[in-house]
Amino acid sequence: MKKTTSPKRAARLAEAVETLRAIRAGEVDALVGTGRRGDRVFTLEGAEHAYRVLIESMNEGALTLSGDKVILYANQCFARLVKCPLKEVIGGSFRRFLSAKDQGTLRPLMKRAARTGTQLQMQLKAADDSIIPVQLSIRELAQGDTEHVIIGMVVTDMTEARRSEELLRALAQRVVQVQEAERGRVALELHDHITQQLCAVLFSSQALVDKLSAGEGPAKREAVKLRTMLGQTAEEVERISRSLRPSALEHLGLAEVLRDTGTEFAARTGLAVQLDCGQFAERLPADAELAFYRILQEALSNVERHARARHVTVRLRQLGAYVELAINDDGIGFNAVQHAARRNGKEVLGLLGMHERAAYVGGVVTVKSGRRAGTEVVMRLPFTPDPVTVGPAAA
Ligand SMILES: Nc1ncnc2c1ncn2[C@@H]1O[C@H](COP(=O)(O)OP(=O)(O)O)[C@@H](O)[C@H]1O
Ligand SMILES: [Mg+2]
Repeated sequence: MKKTTSPKRAARLAEAVETLRAIRAGEVDALVGTGRRGDRVFTLEGAEHAYRVLIESMNEGALTLSGDKVILYANQCFARLVKCPLKEVIGGSFRRFLSAKDQGTLRPLMKRAARTGTQLQMQLKAADDSIIPVQLSIRELAQGDTEHVIIGMVVTDMTEARRSEELLRALAQRVVQVQEAERGRVALELHDHITQQLCAVLFSSQALVDKLSAGEGPAKREAVKLRTMLGQTAEEVERISRSLRPSALEHLGLAEVLRDTGTEFAARTGLAVQLDCGQFAERLPADAELAFYRILQEALSNVERHARARHVTVRLRQLGAYVELAINDDGIGFNAVQHAARRNGKEVLGLLGMHERAAYVGGVVTVKSGRRAGTEVVMRLPFTPDPVTVGPAAA
């Protein structure tokens, strides 16, 4: 910040004019006037001054650039961000702070953004070569021919935001891992203890049926009923245990397990399920297969609980460089867009879980739905089969 001291004698006209110009341009914060009672400081508190104080106290970088990206003005925050003294920043080119990757892509983007006033996510390169993720808000401040264009830019440091995003993602992935481990433990408990005991009781009830003679009609009928119910319970427990820990994935492969899941779902719910799950010659990574399986489970559970559908299709196929699983129903649907917007509610864990599961293995889930228009859940995973080991996919 420059301070001007007015001379003791009458100011020369030229100097006064220059001082006025500097004040108007905002280059001067304060004037020191020397009078009989010593020096006095006159601060400038006009509208421009207020803006400048505001911009200097902002926690974001603020810049103005000329049409050819020369930095005309920058605040201290920007200088700190790019770790470069302010006096070296001002007058230099903005390009020196762009990472090599962004040098080429920025130009057209910036042109468009400047005109429409949009935001860009990119990386800056600081003076010490460190890379800083930032968001740029760009706006053309004054128009003219290219030489006189002035671009205003606000630079937001996204380092913390990125770190939080990464932490959240890591946490979500950890939740998935812990959930799988816990499911495995419960499945084992069910299988090793409850199913065993149920089988023992089932044998006893069978023995009871055998012991009761035909003469003991009502008691025998009760015993038969008991045995049937125990049989059904044992089957149900076994089904839950299997769905908790899909060890079949390992042995049978994804396509077959998806088909079995669909068939079992159809038998249990009475819905018409059309299955089209092509077998791949090459196995997907185990965690990707598990993700596809879990997403099918959640989608089918949603169909059963919410959709009031009559028909369901489950289709697994290779589409170019992707493997895609699509689950469609013809039910009542819901407003998927609105739903995505209030994803922080607890009731959306199922759909959110699908997104997290897919992201965990590098895939993406999209949900399309509309009132009375049915629902489509699609998971896509980049996967290119090895051309050497792969034959044509058998249906
Ligand atoms: N196939 C579907 N048909 C109709 N509505 C659905 C379907 N899938 C999801 N929904 C709606 O989206 C909501 C959120 O689903 P989800 O996140 O799985 O949570 P939850 O199943 O525990 O309610 C459901 O409560 C339901 O209103
Ligand atoms: Mg659900």
